[in-house]
Amino acid sequence: MVDDLDGAQGADLGLSFGGESAGEQETDSASPFFVSKKAAAVLKHEILRQYVVPFVSKVGSTSPDARVVYLDGYAGPGTYADGTHASPSLVLESAATVSQFRKLECVFVERSRKDFERLGTVVKAAQARGINAEARYGRVQNHLDYVLERARGVPLLAFLDPFGLGIPFDDLVGKIFGPDRPQNSQGWIATEVLLNFSANAVRRIGGLLTTTKPVANRDATLNALDLACGGTWWRQEFVASSDNAEAVQRISFGFARRVCAATNARAWVVAVRNRSHHQPVYHLVFFTRHSDGIWLFGEANSLAQEKWRAFCAPPPPPKDENALFDIPDTFEAEEAARKRRWIDEIKGNILNLLATRGAFVIKDHHTAVLGSAIDGARKTHIKSAVKELYSERKTGCNGVGDVETLRITPPS
Ligand SMILES: C[S@@+](CC[C@H](N)C(=O)[O-])C[C@H]1O[C@@H](n2cnc3c(N)ncnc32)[C@H](O)[C@@H]1O
Repeated sequence: MVDDLDGAQGADLGLSFGGESAGEQETDSASPFFVSKKAAAVLKHEILRQYVVPFVSKVGSTSPDARVVYLDGYAGPGTYADGTHASPSLVLESAATVSQFRKLECVFVERSRKDFERLGTVVKAAQARGINAEARYGRVQNHLDYVLERARGVPLLAFLDPFGLGIPFDDLVGKIFGPDRPQNSQGWIATEVLLNFSANAVRRIGGLLTTTKPVANRDATLNALDLACGGTWWRQEFVASSDNAEAVQRISFGFARRVCAATNARAWVVAVRNRSHHQPVYHLVFFTRHSDGIWLFGEANSLAQEKWRAFCAPPPPPKDENALFDIPDTFEAEEAARKRRWIDEIKGNILNLLATRGAFVIKDHHTAVLGSAIDGARKTHIKSAVKELYSERKTGCNGVGDVETLRITPPS
C-alpha cells in the first residue's frame, strides 16, 4: 500500500514494542529468530544490502577522508545459525565492497551476552580482513554519544532494528538528528536512519488501553510506547481506529510524520510482512534529509521487494517428461504483468504532470511520477515509460540518459 503524506511516503507503516522497560521481548541466538531467515527478514536485509553501497559511495565522495559511519544499534549475533547473513555480516560485506574507495566504519551494539559473543566472532573475522568494525556490548542508548562523537563531521547511517520498541523519540530527533548533525548549507552532514517500527508492539500495547482484565505493568508498558512515539498522541489514534490494522497504519504514519516535522527529514515507510496476505510484522521507516536519499532508497526498496516476492513465491512446477504440455511458472507471468501495470501507471502520471505543469525534470517529481507504483517500480520502469511515450509521440524526451535528470517536454 502506498500513501503520500506530508513528507512521508511509501507503504503503510507499523510500530513495535520492546525497548528498555516493561514488556521488552528478550531473545538471543538460541531463539528461532536466528536459526533461519523468514520472509520479513529477507526484505529487510535486501533493502540494507541494496542501500548501503550506493549510499556510502555517494556521501563518502565528499566526506573527510572518504569516511562514513554505520551504526547497527540492535545487531543480534551477526549471522544466522545456518550461516546466512544477518544485518552485521551483510553490512560487513558491503564495507569490503567499498573498501577500495571509501572507509565505512561499522559499529555494532548488542545487549544480549550470548548474541554479543557470537557477534564478536563475526566482527573479529572482518577486522582480520582489514575492515573497520567494532562490537560494543550493552544497550544502544548507552552507546549513542560514543557513535555520534565518532561520526562528528562525517555521514552517518543508523539501522535500528529492535524486536520491540526502539530508542526514545527524543533520542532519535534530539541526538541522531540533533544539533551536531547540521542539515543546512552552512554545514551539510548526511544523516539517515532506517528503523523497525513494530506493528506487533502497537497491537499488543494498544490492546491494553481497552482491556478490562488486570494486566501487570500496564502503565509502564503504555508509557514505554509514549516514550518511543514522543507523546501520548498514539493512544487517541488507537482508540479511534476501527481495527488493529487501521491503528497500526495511523500510528506508524503518525510517528513518521512527527519525526519528519521535528527533524526536517523525509520518510519512506515500508510494510514488512511474511506473506502478502498477512498483516505487517513491522514497518521499516527510512528517514533522510536529502532528495537523493529518497531516490536511492526507492531503488533499494524496489529491488528488495522483487527478491521478497521471489522468496514468497511457490517453487516452479517440476518438469514432467510425460506431460503433453509444460505447466507454466506463474511467478514470471505475474512479475511481467506487475511491471506492465507499473509502466502504464507511470506513463499516465507523466502525461498528467506534462498537462498540468508543462515541461519538468523527473528528479523533482519522484512521488508524482511513480504514483501508486511507488513501492514496486524503480528507475528502469520510469525509463521504459518515457521511451514508450516517446515512440508514441507523446513527449519530446527520448528517455536516453540518467533517469533522474530526464527533462520531460511536450512532443515536438
Ligand atoms: C531483531 S534483533 C536484531 C536483528 C539484526 N538487526 C538482523 O537484522 O540481523 C534485535 C536484537 O537487539 C538486541 N537488543 C534488544 N534491546 C537492545 C538494546 N536496548 N540495545 C542493544 N541491543 C538490544 C536483542 O538482544 C536482539 O539481538
